Amino acid sequence: MIRIATLLLSVCFISSLAAQTTAEKRIDKSVDSLLKLMTLDEKIGQMNQYNGPWAATGPLTNEGNLVGQIKEGKVGSMLNVTGVKRTRELQDLAMQSRLKIPLLFGQDVIHGFRTIFPIPLGEAASWDLKAMEAGARVAAVEASAAGVHWTFAPMVDIARDPRWGRVMEGAGEDTYLGSLIAKARVKGFQGNGFGDTASVMACAKHFAAYGAAVGGRDYNSVDMSLRQLHETYLPPFKAAVDAGAATFMNSFNDINGIPATGNKYIQRDILKGQWKFKGFVVSDWGSIGEMINHGYSKDNKEAGMQAANAGSDMDMESRSYIQHLAALVKEGKVKMAVVDDAVRRILRKKFEMGLFADPYKFSNENREKTQWNNPQHRVVARDIAKKSIVLLKNEKQVLPVSKQTGSIALIGPFVKAKSDHLGFWSYDWPDDSTRIVSLWDGVKSKVSAQTKMLYAKGCGITELDKTGFAEAVETARKADYVILTVGETRDMSGEAKSRSSIQLPGVQEELVKEIVSLGKPTVVMISAGRPLVFNWTADHAPAILYTWWLGTEAGNAMADVLFGDYNPSGKLPMSFPRTEGQIPIYYNHYFTGRPAKNDSDRHYRSAYTDLSLYPKYAFGHGLSYSSFEYSEIQLSAPAFHAGQSLTATVSLTNKSKTAGTETVQLYIRDITASVVRPVKELKGFSQVTLAAGETRSVSFTLTADDLRFYNDQLQYIYEPGKFKLFIGTSSDNVKEAEFELK
Ligand code: NOJ
Repeated sequence: MIRIATLLLSVCFISSLAAQTTAEKRIDKSVDSLLKLMTLDEKIGQMNQYNGPWAATGPLTNEGNLVGQIKEGKVGSMLNVTGVKRTRELQDLAMQSRLKIPLLFGQDVIHGFRTIFPIPLGEAASWDLKAMEAGARVAAVEASAAGVHWTFAPMVDIARDPRWGRVMEGAGEDTYLGSLIAKARVKGFQGNGFGDTASVMACAKHFAAYGAAVGGRDYNSVDMSLRQLHETYLPPFKAAVDAGAATFMNSFNDINGIPATGNKYIQRDILKGQWKFKGFVVSDWGSIGEMINHGYSKDNKEAGMQAANAGSDMDMESRSYIQHLAALVKEGKVKMAVVDDAVRRILRKKFEMGLFADPYKFSNENREKTQWNNPQHRVVARDIAKKSIVLLKNEKQVLPVSKQTGSIALIGPFVKAKSDHLGFWSYDWPDDSTRIVSLWDGVKSKVSAQTKMLYAKGCGITELDKTGFAEAVETARKADYVILTVGETRDMSGEAKSRSSIQLPGVQEELVKEIVSLGKPTVVMISAGRPLVFNWTADHAPAILYTWWLGTEAGNAMADVLFGDYNPSGKLPMSFPRTEGQIPIYYNHYFTGRPAKNDSDRHYRSAYTDLSLYPKYAFGHGLSYSSFEYSEIQLSAPAFHAGQSLTATVSLTNKSKTAGTETVQLYIRDITASVVRPVKELKGFSQVTLAAGETRSVSFTLTADDLRFYNDQLQYIYEPGKFKLFIGTSSDNVKEAEFELK
């Protein structure tokens, strides 16, 4: 019986593979036939993307007659056009062009569309890949119902510098975690595949190494070894290709002197060559023309030549292709084959999306209406929002708060805030004031009828005015329990939002001092788009919850955690520095010739004379209301050969009276290798939910493939030798064992 089932399954699998190939072949044939009909201008039109007239996410050029150009087939795609009505209007124009090639509508759907999810860095703190996939799925359902075909997400840039505003948009500092998250998000956006009206095309961005901008200053240069590029920055992009990402966006930065947009090595050799990427590459906004500012192109025409030849298939808002590509082809500076390849890639996606069959298939009023307020989407958003919260500190079990508490003072600028919970890259909808759940409302829905809720704002987020302090102190004094909220405004982290100081803005930490000094049971909640520095708070507040920007369901998710309806499980996806002077700080740095053993070991060591070596909170840190105990590590063998595997097991006990979820983390260290290796590298994790008092064993299986790295010849190899293996609750709190790869 089982054999018959297996046989049937493989027959189905083989025939579905065959069907896929047939479908692909059919599309390729259609693309080729269409290409034959196209003039050079029409081909170039497909490579041209304009911003819509209603919103902008970059510096506008606003030249030209948009309507006329669409009708002439000179526009292949538009961004920032949403809604069934608008997309239909513009698609109508495209249908008046000679070949009726449909427009593609792209949009920054970064962490939700109508329902806003936690910022991606916040979601990454959940380490819950399924929940992240589900979030991306909801975003795709909502955006596609509003006529959007294509999201400019996920951003998969590894980022180790919290001064960089765009850390909010990625998955943090770790390549392994970042690669898994990249896959989960691509899968979520693309759902059941192109052509399904509830799926959008994903776009892995920003290719590449944008997150390594010198000094954390946006758009800045990147200078790094190719080994570092391949080992740390490229794997999440490769993961996105493996997950089937339809498109890539290149980046604003140069890499070792060549702007990414004009960089043949990364776009042609790696992405389209080695990785065999079949989709297309869109430039970032104006990044082709910006090669002039880089000092790499003498004018917009040369920039167009360099970008096209390097593999940038679509020009977002530089107007370089539309103005100069035809001449460049005629002059022989860009080969027709280059144009054909780009246009083929773009047309293929339009066919796969089913837009030739029905250019309006994503413009359906009924679907737009039903998805506009789909209550199920809020359930998904609340789920990931509560899982994104990280409990940094909980002395004397100040948390969770009892729902029966006599009086609770809610203090600070985020108590009644709404849109500040959305964060950067989110949309403002006219009914936001009723849809976004504030902390006040979230708490109100939890506490007993007898609980008195008191409120004082205390201060603004950025303002220096302290006149509200007295009222805040008075209010806190009257209460049995204090919930104090501080953080960043929604536009303090994001594109072009780099900060040289990442302290709590304004007078907020002074407010924390005043309130915490009262000695009441107090929890400080920090809403922000990056790791912040808040040493006084960290050292004195009894409890701290890091809540990022949590989106539409912020208040509910916060209240779930505050009152213990959800036991916090988030773990930091980035190291939190003690001061800006420690930046860049990341857990998987290399050893040096003079490593310090600890903070007292500074003499001729690679340490600071005036500052600890260690972050305030390490990568992977995050507490729970439960307390988990790890046993020593058991290895299945002290050594193994390539082709075999090794199992490492710990037993994990929940020593508390509360059920909880722990993210068990596995790290390795290659003790000696042909190139220096990181002190620790994340190689696995497992999320385990244990009942009170329960013990469970957690195992990880390693093979030689997990021990691979790039050597100095850029070969991805493993080398026999000794390794350390660590399992624990965070990168700085682990058990340790040793094994050998023979
Ligand atoms: C510039 C940003 O870098 C990119 O991430 C975004 O997708 C485009 N603008 C379009 O808004």
